[in-house]
Formats: sequence, structure tokens, C-alpha cells
Amino acid sequence: MSNLQNEIKRRRTFAIISHPDAGKTTLTEKFLLYGGAIQTAGAVKGKAAARHATSDWMELEKQRGISITSSVMQFEYDGYCINILDTPGHHDFSEDTYRTLMAADSVVMVIDAAKGIEPQTRKLFKVCAMRNIPIFTFINKLDREARDPFELLDELEKEFGIGTYPINWPIGCGVSFKGVFDREKRCILTFGEPHRNYQKSDAVKCDITDTEKLDELIGEYQRAELVDQIELLDGASFEFDIDKVRNGKLTPVFFGSALTNFGVEPFLESFLKMTTSPLPRMSGEDIVDPFDENFSAFVFKIQANMNKAHRDRITFMRICSGKFERDKEYLHTATNKTLRLSQPQQMMADDRHIINEAYAGDIIGVFDPGIFSIGDTVCSPKKAVKFAGIPTFAPEHFCLLEQKDTLKRKQFVKGVEQIAQEGAIQIFHEPNSGMERVIVGVVGVLQFEVLEYRLKNEYNVEVIRNNLPYQYIRWITSDTDPSKLSITSDTKWVQDFKGNNLLIFTSEWNINWALERNEGLELQDFSKN
Ligand code: G4P
Repeated sequence: MSNLQNEIKRRRTFAIISHPDAGKTTLTEKFLLYGGAIQTAGAVKGKAAARHATSDWMELEKQRGISITSSVMQFEYDGYCINILDTPGHHDFSEDTYRTLMAADSVVMVIDAAKGIEPQTRKLFKVCAMRNIPIFTFINKLDREARDPFELLDELEKEFGIGTYPINWPIGCGVSFKGVFDREKRCILTFGEPHRNYQKSDAVKCDITDTEKLDELIGEYQRAELVDQIELLDGASFEFDIDKVRNGKLTPVFFGSALTNFGVEPFLESFLKMTTSPLPRMSGEDIVDPFDENFSAFVFKIQANMNKAHRDRITFMRICSGKFERDKEYLHTATNKTLRLSQPQQMMADDRHIINEAYAGDIIGVFDPGIFSIGDTVCSPKKAVKFAGIPTFAPEHFCLLEQKDTLKRKQFVKGVEQIAQEGAIQIFHEPNSGMERVIVGVVGVLQFEVLEYRLKNEYNVEVIRNNLPYQYIRWITSDTDPSKLSITSDTKWVQDFKGNNLLIFTSEWNINWALERNEGLELQDFSKN
């Protein structure tokens, strides 16, 4: 096997999703510790800064250097080269969070065992389901009081319409948490006091048929309960089917406790075996094979630096095929121009460094002179490809934006358009109206503050922002004439700047109302672009 093939084959690129506080940062940190990429817990930063976001979001920006680096992390483990994509949460939840999922080949979903599915998990899951990517579930915090595991699986199946396959099974929870049963090896791994004190401790293994030893380890009562539960599970649960896992129809479920290091390593090992190396992507009707020697990549994230002294943008690309080489000429498909990507960087925990080469599956960040848009393709001029654009996801917060000083119309338009091009905001307008007033839509409210700040600092424009009561936006996908629609008075018809027609609503009730009253009307909560 050639070196190129070897390098690509050992790559695994996945995103970690969760609702805030379920344990995403803790789990990521444990992965990095196992891989030797960091030496101590607490090295994955950005979180403490995010906590203060409501009171002082500029603090967040001061930390931005760090949050950029921790947004993609690469480390080695057991011969694999792993790329973890972090999905911004908390107050910096934005469209970027969704787009990151476009760059991943699989997803790890962390769920708090006491809470089950929470709103942010629900939103992110929907995006994963759109792409049918494999989803691995880690049910966390078993060292605390937790909900019944059967009930948690049932919730996943009912709410997400996905099959579940527990790879291991918890024995108790909270103070009576005794460990997990490994369904494949038919043995238990015990959780002991040293784990609770965060000491490194190997779990004791015991075969499920060794009743005497089991009684000693977990007590008669819990042993009997476990045997019953395993019988039930073996009889009633889904069959394991790797194809279904790889099509996102069946999620392998693991129980553990990231904080106490319990169940993390078995999870990582099992996960790496079940996931695949980088997957092919479509360019029009053609399949781009990741092992093709010609380089290709697409832009999934653009991050502007808000520091006045460094007004640069970093563009993040996911490599889809071949090998990237520094200083080589590549083709930017959108403009049909060749370019050399300057200072390509890769991130590793809290460090970023210039790289000379990278392979399919990797994420690289390059300085962007302002030419890239979300979804752009960059490839070898020897073999031009063009990947399908990244969908635009429905914002949930809207405001009406006007410039204070009408003489600054040009700067206002330029600023708003450029920031929209980076993908930080979406802009809409009422049909037949000009650009004096725009409707801005964002996925996370922090983006409004960022927008105001950037318009003032980078474009010297002060704005008046009026928050609007809308919460839902839908693209009209049928060829219905929007001017003839029967809609409630608090529903508005708007257009995006590509001329697509959309409706914005204040409630889900109004969406149903519109669908019921207008025959043939079809609505969609993302735009394929
Ligand atoms: P997030 O990135 O998903 O937002 O969650 P994060 O890992 O920061 O975890 C949120 C809180 O839950 C943290 O506590 C963390 O220590 C705790 N936690 C994570 N995994 C486990 C677990 O397996 N068991 C228990 N008992 N707790 C867990 P915190 O006090 O909010 O933050 P910190 O001060 O410890 O950073």
C-alpha cells in the first residue's frame, strides 16, 4: 500500500455533539489524554470563557485564539490519526455548529444519563440525520443518579427514529454504580472507589457466569438484577448490524463516566473499529474517492478575527481526497483561479502549527484574503471537482437592522453583505424593498452582538437593532406564488439575497396554519444552496 493510502486509511474524522454540560469537554479531554496529545486535564479551554459570554462577550473574543484552536484537534491513538471537530455550544452556538457536522464522517453524541435528550442534542441530531452519518452514543455521568437505561434507549428510539444497540450495560448508578457489562465479551468491568477519586484504576473483569465472584463484586441483589436485564436486552434489543450503524440507522450505545475515566477507553477502541476511514463525497454526479491522489477540499467554516490589529480571516477546509502540500498551486473552483494557500495550519489541543502536508480526512485552516465563501471547493488543477454547497440552516432569532446615519448606506451594505458571506449571519429583505433595512437571522443570539460590534469597528457604521418576534423560517420549495398565500398577520414573506422566497413565523402553530390553508405549499427548514 502506498504511503498516501496508508495515511488516509488510518484517519478518523468525527464531531462530538451534546447539550451544554452533558460532558463533551470532559470526554474530549480524556480522548486527548489517552492519545498523549495533552498531559493534564483542563487543557481544552474556551469553556470557562464561554460561561461569561452573557455578561461580557468581549472576554470570549479575547479567548478566541484559544477557541479557534480547540475547534479542531488532531491526535494519534493506537495507529489511528484522529481528527475531532468540536461543535460550539453554550452562547456561541451558531450556524457554524451545524456546518461543522458537514465536515465529519461520524458523530459522537454525549448524553447526560440523568437528563436524556435535551434541546441542543435534538437540533444537532436532525442535521446528522440529514446526512445519514453514523452516530455513536455515550451516555455519561453514571457515577451520579441516572434515569433507567431502558427508558433512555426508548427515548432515543422514539424521538430520533433510530435503532439502538447497547455495547455495554450499566450496573446501577450514583452511589450504587458498580460498573458495566460488556455484551460482546460477556463480562463485567467494575467501577471502584479509586475511580470516584479520579485515580487511575483498572477495572476488574469478571465473567457473567461466575455467580460467586459477581456476588462478591457487585452484591447479590445487583447481580440478580443484571442477569435479568441482560436476558431482557438480549431478547428484545435490535440485532447488531454494522451496515445500519454506517448508514446512521442504528446507534451503538455506551454507558460510562467521563469525569472518572470509566468506560472511555473501551468506548474509543470500539468506536475506532466501527468507524470508517474518510468517506467519498459527491461532485455533481461523480464520486470523489478519498484515496484519489488529486487533492480536493471544501470550506465549511470561516472565522473572522475581531482584533483590529489582526483583521484576518481563517478559512477551515475539510480535505476530501488526496494529499495537501504547502505552497503548491491549487484551483479555487468558484472563481476558476489558481492560488497558493498561505500559512496552512493544523491544530492540536491548545497549539497550532504550520503544516507542510495533510491528507484526506484532515482539517486545515488557511489565511483567507477574503475570497472564500462557505461551501467553496479547492482542488488540484489536474482534476477539477466541485462539491455540493453546504446547506443553509434555519435561523431562530431575527432582528430588523437599520443604519443610524443614512449617509453611510454604502458601508452598511458592504459590512452586512461581507459578514453574511462569511456565514456568521443570514440576511433577508421584504420583497421590493431596498437595502436600507435588512432582516438579520441568526442561529445563536450572540451573533447579533458580534454583528453590531463588527459593523462599528470594521465598517464604522452604527446601527439600530430591533429584535423581531419570529422564531421559525422556512424556505418555500413548491412553486407557489408567495404574494397569493393565505397566511396569518404575524407571518411574513421575505426573500434571501439569492432571490429565494421564505416565510417567517412566530410559532409552529402558524406554520401548520399556512400549510393547511394553502394547498400544494411545501416548506423546508434548510436550503440546499
Ligand atoms: P460540556 O462540554 O458538554 O458543556 O460539559 P463538560 O465536559 O464541561 O462537563 C460539565 C460538568 O459535568 C462539569 O462539571 C464536569 O466536571 C461534569 N462532568 C462531566 N462528566 C462527568 C461524569 O462522568 N460524572 C460527573 N459526576 N460529572 C461529570 P462542572 O462542575 O460544571 O465544571 P468544572 O468546574 O468541573 O469544569
